[in-house]
Amino acid sequence: MGMVARASVLTEAAVVLICFGLWFAGALPAAAGELEQRLSVGKHLRRLNKPSVKSIQSSDGDIIDCVKIADQPAFDHPFLKNHTIQLRPAFHPEGLYDERKVASDQSNNGAHSIAQLWHQSGRCPKGTVPIRRTRREDILRASSVKRYGKKKQRSVPRPFLAEPDFISEGGHQHAIAYVNGDKYYGAKAIINVWEPNIQLPNEFSLSQLWILGGSFGEDLNSIEAGWLVSPELYGDNNTRLFIYWTSDSYQATGCYNLLCSGFIQISSEIAMGASIYPVSEYSGSQYDISILVWKDPKEGNWWMQFGSDNIMGYWPSFLFSYLSDSASTVEWGGEVINSEPDGRHTATHMGSGHFPEEGFGKASYFKKLQIVDASNNLSPPRSISTFTEQSNCYDVQYDSNGDWGSYFYFGGPGRNPNCQ
Ligand SMILES: *[C@@H]1O[C@H](CO)[C@@H](O)[C@H](O)[C@H]1NC(C)=O
Ligand SMILES: *[C@@H]1O[C@H](CO)[C@@H](O)[C@H](O)[C@H]1NC(C)=O
Repeated sequence: MGMVARASVLTEAAVVLICFGLWFAGALPAAAGELEQRLSVGKHLRRLNKPSVKSIQSSDGDIIDCVKIADQPAFDHPFLKNHTIQLRPAFHPEGLYDERKVASDQSNNGAHSIAQLWHQSGRCPKGTVPIRRTRREDILRASSVKRYGKKKQRSVPRPFLAEPDFISEGGHQHAIAYVNGDKYYGAKAIINVWEPNIQLPNEFSLSQLWILGGSFGEDLNSIEAGWLVSPELYGDNNTRLFIYWTSDSYQATGCYNLLCSGFIQISSEIAMGASIYPVSEYSGSQYDISILVWKDPKEGNWWMQFGSDNIMGYWPSFLFSYLSDSASTVEWGGEVINSEPDGRHTATHMGSGHFPEEGFGKASYFKKLQIVDASNNLSPPRSISTFTEQSNCYDVQYDSNGDWGSYFYFGGPGRNPNCQ
């Protein structure tokens, strides 16, 4: 009878027929489990994929849906039911570098600014936001429907809490630069873009900035943005733009991109989770992206800008506890998962897959690091520190000069004769 009760709420007739077929075949428990999973995947897809006014087929297999700005997933949040969308930040911090000038300056050390692959196939109209459509396979690759679009817990580098279990924390490995001990209201960097090799589908490699508030316990607040290669999340090895947020150390709150209610996007140009194109080549052309995250001192929301003029949108202040005031740590750098296949260190690359010593065109960089200070100005960070768990696997080298300001090279190949 349990079967009949479940069947009565079905909308997918084909599923019902298959199920009853299996029921008659005596496979009731397995079929009920499968049916439940199909239903919850279908329900989750309907929640994520909003009706669109136009859809664009990208050459990497993605479908980009142009969704009316007021129909995006953020507005499923009960606290956002009456929200008035902010179409501009009330405040924009001014910094040391005028990017518009840099963009037209051929001498930008040979590095070019870039955009997204799907732009070759079309653009979204004004008043809509481009959203990468989630496919059934995307959800099925996750450990569960509930975990889809969420990081596994505790993946923030904690350089200043030298805990004994540090290296073994889920196999996360980092090579980062960071500042802490002050109040920060944002951060900015120009990030070199590569497509690092990933040894196993459940590993990833990313380059990002972290804006952190609170202790590194159960209540860590984090805002993150950068690029990521994650076969588990996307089903391919493409380098993709991402954002992330959490207000409870990756437990119940937060997600990547727009995969839960949280970030409110206003840009019709750039899609979160879409492929960045082109990427840098070893001894060849170099490409980089600029990311700025800052807190609007008037409304309290945290805004994000991609490149010199794409204001992407904002995380409403109410999502956070500590970050509703300010951040206490800012980190920039790379992270990979080392799942230790066959008991040895993974060969998954970080950055370009080459060590910092190799320098421009070969090693990956972050440059023009800035933080937003208490007077809401972008300024070079004071007293930067660096951190890596195993410098024989992935390393980081910080320096500063007139051209690049505060910068560092970082990354490495993972497994090598000195890293087993
Ligand atoms: C939204 O507005 C309606 C009508 O003004 C009000 O009844 C409701 O409580 C508001 N909801 C929220 C979450 O603020
Ligand atoms: C991703 O890269 C790995 C190894 O670098 C390769 O084995 C795998 O087939 C690639 N996956 C896709 C979808 O291209």
